[in-house]
This record gives sequence, structure tokens and C-alpha cells, in this order.
Amino acid sequence: MTEKIADAVARRRTFAIISHPDAGKTTLTEKLLLFGGAIQLAGEVKAKKNRVQTRSDWMNIERERGISVVTSVMTFEFGDHVFNLLDTPGHEDFADDTYRTLTAVDSAIMVIDAAKGIEPRTLKLFEVCRLRDIPIVTFVNKLDRESRDPFEILDEIEQKLALDTAPVTWPIGRGKSFAGTYNLAANTIRRSDDDVVPIAVNGPESEAVSGLLPEHEREMLVEEMALAREACRPFDMQAFREGHLTPVYFGSALKNFGVRDLIEALGAVGPAPRAQDADSRRVEATEDKMTSFVFKIQANMDPNHRDRIAFVRVCSGRLERGMKAKLVRTGKPISLSAPQFFFAKNRITADEAFAGDVVGIPNHGTLRIGDTLTEGEELLFRGVPNFAPEILRRVRLGDAMKAKKLKEALQQMAEEGVVQLFLPEDGSPAIVGVVGALQLDVLKERLKLEYSLPVDFEMARFTVCRWISSEEKGEVDRFIAAHRGDMARDLDEDPVFLAQHAFGLNYEAERWKAISFTAVKDYQ
Ligand code: G4P
Repeated sequence: MTEKIADAVARRRTFAIISHPDAGKTTLTEKLLLFGGAIQLAGEVKAKKNRVQTRSDWMNIERERGISVVTSVMTFEFGDHVFNLLDTPGHEDFADDTYRTLTAVDSAIMVIDAAKGIEPRTLKLFEVCRLRDIPIVTFVNKLDRESRDPFEILDEIEQKLALDTAPVTWPIGRGKSFAGTYNLAANTIRRSDDDVVPIAVNGPESEAVSGLLPEHEREMLVEEMALAREACRPFDMQAFREGHLTPVYFGSALKNFGVRDLIEALGAVGPAPRAQDADSRRVEATEDKMTSFVFKIQANMDPNHRDRIAFVRVCSGRLERGMKAKLVRTGKPISLSAPQFFFAKNRITADEAFAGDVVGIPNHGTLRIGDTLTEGEELLFRGVPNFAPEILRRVRLGDAMKAKKLKEALQQMAEEGVVQLFLPEDGSPAIVGVVGALQLDVLKERLKLEYSLPVDFEMARFTVCRWISSEEKGEVDRFIAAHRGDMARDLDEDPVFLAQHAFGLNYEAERWKAISFTAVKDYQ
């Protein structure tokens, strides 16, 4: 039976987990999947991380480094909701993919280590979420260990992220005496995630709560909770949905505390698939006609077949197996004959998908990152940005005879989003740009494996790049003419200014007031 579009959309929650390595993302993911019955045994996600052979394991580099550079999606049901968890590569070096994945989610869980607070990578990922006003639910993890005072953690979130906080639960004890979570507004507790139904209590003084703690900690909990009620903000749905306020949950993913609170919250207050902005109009998730965009390409998921999977986020309508869609960039039809859903470790054929769902479309290079698919309408989503790379390198090829092949291969890799490609205006060798250094290793490995092209990278004399544009006619051309040696074109032939250092960039920005230098560029 096919589901009504509006019902299907209302049920969906598409989210990512953002955190600094080691905060507990893998452990939490595993526990969430267990709730949804998507995996039988805890440990499967971990096993993947520790490099037991998996489907996505094709690349030596992954095996050598014991990390996953593959962004995948995990779908599970819990309560009345369908959750699509878009995994982001844990390694900090592989940043481009992570950023792009965040354009395909409607909300994010921010996991913070209760002893460490906000760490650098959390901050960076949070900034990407903020660019799109993605609502954030915070999970303060590892309360079973020595941790900071909860007020200090809330304060740090407010200070470092400029984000209001609203603690929804409060930890009952900490460290060795951590014994559960207390819902401040509902006056209920859970002694662990095994408490399916929360237990109603009469305040923190009640025996049901204080009995969980050693005597000397009871008073502290009563005081803390009184202060929390007095001094902290209550949850405000609108502020949360607009990305100004985060509800905060405390727990321990490892010891099964607070995860049930969290998943229920995501179902109850997490946003259903949002309307998406396209160039010509705003597309509502509940519209009849299918629209979707490609936010990631994964090549060689199966080493025996040189296939490419385009990960497509459905934005509206019903994507059905066998349907013909229009690829707006080329105007040509594309047949969606074998769309796929992904689970913890399996993929299955997707018969139908709705807004918020992510499906994989196998193809041989037809689809590019940022592509829009529709049922015929001429519209382009502007969802998937390019971030100005932080590392720029020239590609050096041992065998000059293969220059043409290299150019094609680089073009291909750039279309997949492995690297960004810049072709200098002065005709000098191509420059590749990456946000994280690991992307260079991936590029090198793939050029060798797939194209038999052994390459090395040389420092380029540039360290900063910016897309340039101007409202004033002719200004961009004048700028290019004056800086020919420092100009390149990206994959879309848009002009990019390359600077030796930030100082040089600032200097030019001062002199050329009518030029905008931007560090983020939307695809197309
Ligand atoms: P990550 O994906 O964010 O990098 O973190 P991951 O879940 O792998 O967790 C990092 C380490 O923190 C792991 O320990 C994990 O067991 C531990 N951990 C996660 N959540 C909690 C928690 O709530 N409480 C406590 N005490 N520890 C937690 P490890 O020693 O690195 O790995 P393992 O040998 O235990 O698997």
C-alpha cells in the first residue's frame, strides 16, 4: 500500500550527528540503531569503524588508516517515525563530504563529551549547521565519568556557539553515582534507557529520586535543579526551529542513559523535512511532484563494477522505482530503475521514497554533485555548497604523455566532489584544492588504482582562494586582466582568485571594493 505524501513527510526525521572525534558519535549511532531494530547487536557500527570487512571497504587507504571516508545513510523506525541518519566521516581531515552531507539534513544532534565541552571540530561543524539554520539537539555524553558541572557546559555552549540552551533533562548524579535523567518540565525520571515509560516523581526531594543517590549528593541535586529551573531558559519550539536555541539532554551512550530521551525528543520536536529553496521558488516537502538533489557521489562501492552511486535527497513528492526524472542541468531524462535504500550494512531496492529520504542512484557518471532531478519542472536547488579549500596543491605527473588522461581524471574526481579543481588562466598545471588533507591521499590512491596515473603533489604558491563576483559590469573582467597570474577557473568556469596568503587577499579586497570575494559557493 502506498503511503500518502503528507503522512509520509510528517513521519520523517532526517538528521546527522556532529561531534569531535571520541565524543561518542559511534556509540550513540549504535544505540540509536538498536532502538530502531536496524542492527541486532551493539557493536556492529564499531566493528565497521575498526575495519572488519565491509562493502565500502574497497579503498586501501581506508583500511590502512582504519577510518571510514564514506558517508552513508542509515534508516530506522522508532515509534511513529522514520529516521534517516546521515553519517558523516569521523576523520577531521575529510571535511568536504561532511559539509555537503549537512546540506541534506533537517536537524542535527550535537554530541559533547561532558568532560571536554565544546571542542574544535564540533565548533566547525556547528558553524556549517548555522549557515543553514539547522536546528540542533544537544546530547551531553559520558556523564558516567568524571565530568564538568552541567551549568559550566551550558554556559560554554552559550558562549562559544552563541546559541541559547534549554536543558530538558538534568543528570541525576554524575560519574560513579550517575543514576538516571530527570525531565525538568514533566517531573519524570528514567533510571536508564530500559525505563520505556518515564516514571512520574514529586520533585528531586522525593524518595524515588534521592534514593538513587548516595546521601551526600542528594542535597546537591536539589540545589542544582532549583537553580536550573530558576536560571535556565525553558524550551521554545520556535527558537529551536530557527536555530537559535538548543534543547539539551544529558546521558551516557555507553551505559544506556539518556538515549531514549534523545530519540523521543527528535521524534517529538525534531523538524519534519523542510521546504527547500530552489532558484525559481520554494519547494514544499508535501508537494505532489518529485524533486530531489544530489549531495554526494560515491564511486566504486562495489569494486567489481565500476559503478557510481549518487546519493539523492528527496525534497518533495514521491520518488518511485522505474520513474523517469528530468536531470535539469542537461535537460535530459534519466530513468530511476534501481534506486536503493541503505541500512546499517545492507542496501535494498527502494520502491518509493519521500521528502527527507535519501536514496542511492547507481549511474555511470551522468549525475554530478548539486544536480537537481524533477518530474519535468525547470528548477535548480541551491543546497549544496562548495567551501573554499584550505589546502592547494599542483598535481605533478611523472609521465608527460599522460597529461590529457590526467586532465580527464581530475575532471571526473572533481565532479564526484573528491577534490576541487582549478585551472589557472595562465595555462600552468592544474591546481587541486581540498578542505582536509586526507582528500589528497584519496585522490592519489584513486588516480593510481582507477586510472593507472601515479601522481605527486607540489606546494602551490597559493594558500587561499576565493570566488569573485561583482554587481558592477565589467569589474570582474578588469580584475582578471589585472591578476592573470593569480586567477583560475573552477569546474563551472567561474573565476577564482588565488592568493599567496590571507594578507594578500585582504590587500586586494581593500583595493577592489566593487568585487566580492566569497569563501562559499553554491553549486551551479
Ligand atoms: P566517536 O565515534 O565520536 O569517535 O566516539 P566513540 O563512540 O568511538 O567513543 C569514543 C570512546 O568513548 C570509546 O572508547 C567509547 O567506548 C567511549 N564512550 C562513548 N560513549 C561513552 C559514555 O557514555 N561513557 C563512557 N565512559 N565512555 C564512552 P574507546 O576506549 O576509545 O573504545 P572502546 O575500546 O571502548 O571501543
